[in-house]
Amino acid sequence: MNRTQLVITVLYSISVLISVVVLVLLLRSTRARHRGTVEERRLAGFENRWAVVVATFLVVLLAATIFQTPYGDTKQVKNAQHVNVTAQQFAWNIQPSAVRAGKPVEFNFRSLDVQHGFGVYRKHKLLFQIQVPAAGQAQRVVHTFDHPGTYEILCLEFCGFQHHLMRATFRVS
Ligand code: CUA
Repeated sequence: MNRTQLVITVLYSISVLISVVVLVLLLRSTRARHRGTVEERRLAGFENRWAVVVATFLVVLLAATIFQTPYGDTKQVKNAQHVNVTAQQFAWNIQPSAVRAGKPVEFNFRSLDVQHGFGVYRKHKLLFQIQVPAAGQAQRVVHTFDHPGTYEILCLEFCGFQHHLMRATFRVS
């Protein structure tokens, strides 16, 4: 588990814990038999305060994690190595299938049919991913590989009954 996954796991666990506590408190409050108007007002105030706490927490969680999601970088770079990726149910065609490390690689994608997801893995860890839109729309991503080796490509968008077979490998030297 890398640092990002750890942060996400811890924060989501805390979020689930808070949700469970809130749910239990709500269930207990609705079961209360003797509810005078004073008690109802007190509970309403309590619920409102909790709603603010939960909403604030979710916003903080979103702000803390959104920039760490492993989406690819689409900005233009000079002197990039170019790789054309064609996606088709249920295979990847990657030309060329080998690049050099330490120099930006611009991947240009097109799909011949439906939407696919281009997920790049190194040693079973997701490095980055990008959506390959359905036929007719272009997509590109720029990535610099720091480590030589064999990278695995997995389709990360359910694209049909053999989606799970849509994988390939990619060499970085
Ligand atoms: Cu292509 Cu799933």
